[in-house]
Amino acid sequence: MTEEQKQKDEIITKQCEPILEVENISKRFPGVVALDNVSLKFMPGEIHAVVGENGAGKSTLMKILAGAYIPDSGNILLRGERVSFSHPQQAQDKGITIIYQEFNLLPDRTVAYNIFLGREPSKLGIIDIRKMNKNAEELLREIGVEKMISPTAMVSSLSVAEQQLVEIAKAISFNAKVLIMDEPTAALTYTEVKLLLDLVQKLKAKGMSVIFISHRLVEVFDFAEKITVLKDGQLVGTVNAKDVKPADVVYMMVGRTLDHYFPPLGTPEDFGEVVLKVTNASNNFLKDINFELRKGEVLGIAGLQGSGRTEMAQAVFGVVPFTSGTLELRGKAMIVKNPAMAIKNRIGFVTEDRKSEGILPKQPIRDNMLLTVRSIQFVFAPLFKNGIRKARKLVPVLGKQVDVRTDSYDREVQYLSGGNQQKVVLAKWLASDADIFIFDEPTRGIDVEAKASIHDMIRDLTKKGIAVLMISSELPEIIGMSDRVLVMWDGHIEGELPAKSSEPEIMLMATGGKHVKETQNVLAAGKE
Ligand SMILES: Nc1ncnc2c1ncn2[C@@H]1O[C@H](COP(=O)(O)OP(=O)(O)OP(=O)(O)O)[C@@H](O)[C@H]1O
Ligand SMILES: [Mg+2]
Repeated sequence: MTEEQKQKDEIITKQCEPILEVENISKRFPGVVALDNVSLKFMPGEIHAVVGENGAGKSTLMKILAGAYIPDSGNILLRGERVSFSHPQQAQDKGITIIYQEFNLLPDRTVAYNIFLGREPSKLGIIDIRKMNKNAEELLREIGVEKMISPTAMVSSLSVAEQQLVEIAKAISFNAKVLIMDEPTAALTYTEVKLLLDLVQKLKAKGMSVIFISHRLVEVFDFAEKITVLKDGQLVGTVNAKDVKPADVVYMMVGRTLDHYFPPLGTPEDFGEVVLKVTNASNNFLKDINFELRKGEVLGIAGLQGSGRTEMAQAVFGVVPFTSGTLELRGKAMIVKNPAMAIKNRIGFVTEDRKSEGILPKQPIRDNMLLTVRSIQFVFAPLFKNGIRKARKLVPVLGKQVDVRTDSYDREVQYLSGGNQQKVVLAKWLASDADIFIFDEPTRGIDVEAKASIHDMIRDLTKKGIAVLMISSELPEIIGMSDRVLVMWDGHIEGELPAKSSEPEIMLMATGGKHVKETQNVLAAGKE
C-alpha cells in the first residue's frame, strides 16, 4: 500500500468513526427511568434528529451528552475515547454545546453580553464593551444574521427566533464541534424554521455535527439524514431518513399507526350566539380589528410571527388592552383592563410562553392545575376544607384528560418533560369555569399522539358550548381544527377564510399576498 493510499484510508476510517457515542446509558429520576440502557452513535458532519413522545427521554439524553446530567451508568465516547463530564463547561471545552429547550439567555442584558457571559473581554479589569460588541458582531456576521440582530439589542426585545440565533452564535463562539439543539424550531414559524435549518446546513458543511430534537416530522425529514427514535427511555432504533417514511417513524414512536389526526369540524347546530365581538379596535400595535366569535366554534388565527396574533389575544385578555374601538362580551360592551378582569369574565388564556406566563415551575403539578379554580374557593380554601378537597379531586381527572405522564401529581412541574409541562398549563385552564378560551400555540412541543388528544379536547370544549380562539403557526393544525380562519398580517386582520381552506390560500393572505416567492418557499417547506 502506498503512503498516499494509507493516508486516504486513514481519512476514510476517520470519517466512519463516530464523533460521539453513548454506550448503555441509563438514568433514573425519582419514580421514572428516563433512560434505559441506550446506545447510540453520532457521525461527524451529520444532522441527526432524535424524536419520540413527550417524556421519552430525549432531553435527558442530550443533557447527559452536554454534561448537565451525570448518567447512573454507561459510557460516553468522544472520538472513540471515554469521557465523563461533571459540568457543562467540561463538555463545552471538548466542543459539545447545547441549546436548551427552555432558553437560558438573560433577558435584561444585551446580545453581546449574553454571548460572552463569563468570558467578557476586559481592559484593566473592566469589561471592554466595545470589543465585546465587535466580537459579537463578527459572530453574528459569521452566521449571516448581522443585519437582523444588533449586538447591543436587549435580549428581551428579540423574538424567540432571534434569541435562537443568538444561542447559535454563542455556540459557535465556543468552537462547537457538536451542536445539540433541543426543539429549536418549536417556537418558530415556517419561514424562521427555514432560516434556522439553512444555517444548520452551513454548519454541517463546515464539518459540525448537529443533533436536534423535534416533534415536527416534516422538518426532521427535510433536514436530518439519520433519525433516532426513543420510547419510554429505550432506544427503538436509528434509521436513515431516506429509507423510511414519516408514517414509519410515527409507528416507531407510538408503537401503532395513527389513523386520525383531527376530530370532525363543528356543524351549524354547534354554533350559538356571538359571545365576543370586537369592533374597530386598535392599540399601539393592532390596527382596526373586527371579528366575532360564536359559542361552539373554533376560530383559527393564522399569520406569520410578528403579524399580531399574540398581541390580539393579549388585547382580548387585557394584557395589553385595546385603546380604541369596542369589545363586547356576551352582548355587553366592556373594557378588559387586565387579565384578572378577563378571568373574572370567564376568559381563559392558554399561553404559548409557558415558562414566563403559564406555570409555577417550583410548585407541585397539583397546585399548578388548581391555580385558576375560582378565586373564592382558592383564597378561602383553608377555611373551606370541603372546597379544597373537592378541588383536589379534580386533579387526577384533569391529569387524565390532558394525559400528563407522571407517577405523582405532587412532583414539581419543573421536573416534567417540556410537553408534559404544556399539558399542565392546559389542565389549569380546564379547571377554571371559562367559556371563552384563547389558545396560543396549544400543541407547541407536544408529541403526535398527545397532539391528537389535545385537538379532541378542544373540540369537546366547543361541544359544551365553549367558544375557542386558536392561534397556531402550524397550518395543518389551523386547517384541521378551524371552523373559520382569520388571517393576520402586519397588525391587522387581512381577511377571513372558510373552514377547509388550503395552505396556499392561507399563506398567500398571511404574507399580505405580496411575497409570492417567500410563500412558495414556505409552502415547499411546510408540506405535511
Ligand atoms: N430533573 C428531573 N427530575 C425528575 N424527573 C425528571 C427530570 N428530568 C426529566 N425527568 C423525567 O424523565 C422523563 C424523561 O424526560 P425528558 O425531559 O428527557 O423527556 P423528553 O423526551 O425530552 O420529552 P418532551 O418531548 O416532552 O420534551 C420524564 O418522565 C421526566 O418527567
Ligand atoms: Mg424535551
